[in-house]
Amino acid sequence: MTTPMNTPTAPLGSANHFDAAATTWDENPRRRKMAVKVARAIVRRAGLRPEWDLIDFGRGTGLLGLALLPHVRSVTGGDSSRGMLDILQAKIDAAGLSNMRTLLFDFDRDEPQGLAFDVITMNLVLHHLKDIDRAIATCRRMLRPGGIVCIADLDTEPGTFHEDGAEHVHHHGFDRSELKSHLGDHGFTAPCDETVYVIEKPDKTGTARKYPVFLVTAICGGTERGFTGPSFSLS
Ligand SMILES: C[S@@+](CC[C@H](N)C(=O)[O-])C[C@H]1O[C@@H](n2cnc3c(N)ncnc32)[C@H](O)[C@@H]1O
Repeated sequence: MTTPMNTPTAPLGSANHFDAAATTWDENPRRRKMAVKVARAIVRRAGLRPEWDLIDFGRGTGLLGLALLPHVRSVTGGDSSRGMLDILQAKIDAAGLSNMRTLLFDFDRDEPQGLAFDVITMNLVLHHLKDIDRAIATCRRMLRPGGIVCIADLDTEPGTFHEDGAEHVHHHGFDRSELKSHLGDHGFTAPCDETVYVIEKPDKTGTARKYPVFLVTAICGGTERGFTGPSFSLS
């Protein structure tokens, strides 16, 4: 039985779009397939090690974190949605995972006091965060020297990806070069990017659309942690 590690700030985890979506989140096969692809790319790119502690932010129901768990010492799932974390906690309990835990954490409000990790991962989360600079600064403060941030998200898109166009979307994807430049501004080094997946789905009018998903990685400080650099391929 694992213990949720909730931050002291309140109120968190109040009902939101993602609380409502949590119970049916895993039913979409595209999400499961994408999590596997992104996890595979992160393993190769970051050179994950069994002595490393990883936090997966915007963790959702844990699709990505569960795929990464065999490659590291521990995985923490951070999310601002209590509904998402409840689903994940049920998975953790059912599988008796002692090296996985949940963390109620709002990237737009919370401070990373007392948190230290070797790897931070985020899959389709950054575009839901209001302040990208604040998010990157938060990542920097949470990473141990030489730690690696791995951000998977959409390339800049015309605003058709989220059909409801809801208030929880703050960015219509990202320009990879600009994101890497932001990381550099915050002291990250060796930023690089690859396309790791392409989401195919129709927009509101029924028009088929393709949305490439990138993985941008960068190192917090130096290169002493065995970062494997930009060259990898997907199988
Ligand atoms: C599109 S979902 C992606 C979920 C998961 N990474 C996946 O790929 O299945 C975005 C996730 O980010 C979380 N999220 C949104 N805003 C957040 C914030 N400010 N702080 C932390 N998590 C947030 C949501 O609750 C949701 O679980």
